[in-house]
Amino acid sequence: MVNLEDIRREYEHPPLMEEEMDENPVVQFQEWMDLAIKYYKSDSNAMILSTVSGSGQPSSRTVLLKNVTKAGFVFYTNYNSRKGNEILLNPHVALLFYWPGLDRQIRIEGKAEKVGSEISDKYFNSRPEGSKKSAIVSPQSEEIEDFLAFKEKWEFLVDKENLERPENWGGYEVFPDYFEFWQGRKNRFHDRIAYKKIDKHEFKFQKVRLAP
Ligand SMILES: Cc1cc2nc3c(=O)[nH]c(=O)nc-3n(C[C@H](O)[C@H](O)[C@H](O)COP(=O)(O)O)c2cc1C
Repeated sequence: MVNLEDIRREYEHPPLMEEEMDENPVVQFQEWMDLAIKYYKSDSNAMILSTVSGSGQPSSRTVLLKNVTKAGFVFYTNYNSRKGNEILLNPHVALLFYWPGLDRQIRIEGKAEKVGSEISDKYFNSRPEGSKKSAIVSPQSEEIEDFLAFKEKWEFLVDKENLERPENWGGYEVFPDYFEFWQGRKNRFHDRIAYKKIDKHEFKFQKVRLAP
């Protein structure tokens, strides 16, 4: 394997100034996401979701961000999966976006809540047939003993007109209380602007600069 210590590059970008960052971190997020979508075309909405088990063991996986509301970030998954079970025990989660090339990272921390069933139904019904079938047959995160039988289940799910969302599949909305916007800069003198929630009831944040 190549020596990883030899891999090095500079991050050459203009500065991130507090006064140019929107007061509302969701608006700032949308601005960065729009640029990432222009830059990458696909999968710029992929994010790392971290959850914590009852014993305090963190775990991370990639999921796709599917909606940004006024105050939250929505993704869809199996409620009985490892992440779903962990969120049930502890709703505090972290989201992470990293866009190489733009050399930007956004960290978000907050609480996850299930979205209403009508929202999950609407999104489920918009998915391609094959994805619907996978959501229906897959006991996500469980060990599979007979893979052939499992695959057959998918293939024999032929009532294509009637693929309803299973109750154990749907959306979560993450309501953030912390954001951090990171811009890679020259000489590893990076810019980091964090937003801390300052009001329990209102969506109000205070911007602070963090050391690189
Ligand atoms: C690019 C990418 C996008 C993914 N999007 C989703 C998603 O939106 N929802 C989902 O449940 N799993 C998604 N996955 C799969 C998850 O990373 C993970 O394997 C799965 O959710 C099971 O995680 P768990 O066992 O920790 O619950 C995605 C994986 C990748 C690499």
